[in-house]
Amino acid sequence: MLTIKDKTFVPFITQATLENRITQLAEQINQDYKDREPLLVVVLNGAFIFAAELMKQLTIACRVTFIRVSSYHQTASTGVIREILGLHEPLEGQDLILIEDIVDTGLTLQRVCRQLGDRQPASIAVATLLFKPDALQADLSPDYVGFSIENRFVVGYGLDYDGFGRNTKEVFVLQE
Ligand code: XMP
Ligand code: MG
Repeated sequence: MLTIKDKTFVPFITQATLENRITQLAEQINQDYKDREPLLVVVLNGAFIFAAELMKQLTIACRVTFIRVSSYHQTASTGVIREILGLHEPLEGQDLILIEDIVDTGLTLQRVCRQLGDRQPASIAVATLLFKPDALQADLSPDYVGFSIENRFVVGYGLDYDGFGRNTKEVFVLQE
């Protein structure tokens, strides 16, 4: 059990399950990109642990960069999306793999994909650790999904509740 401020969270996805699945995703990416040199674009803050674990297992030539957007406050998506910060490298002709912690409404990702798409990359793919298909409002589907989950609030393994709870080896879900 995990208590953060006023909320109680219970174990949801174990460390071993996470690690095994991330290994599978990495193998798939190694295959799919074997003749390319993708640029991983990590969406901070939540994706940093997933991205690190995934990247350690990539054997292809690849690079990484980090961006920040924010649309989420406490446990409900606001739908208000701020600007993308931190992307300074040229993207023209690059194969981008966006790395997300979770796709919820998908509105953040849609905005990010549009803005990055304007800069003429060769391709954009999305890898997300978690996906809530029932919450999706945007017209997109992630290419690499760790786990599709029900529409419940989760923390841990990089994901936070009000900034806390990122530092766990498993994913927890809000107790109902
Ligand atoms: P949208 O709705 O734009 O949201 O797809 C994506 C961002 O919202 C955050 N998010 C969560 N964070 N537990 C969290 O800790 C959740 O269940 C959750 N759902 C969405 C997350 O930062 C993601 O990048
Ligand atoms: Mg967050």
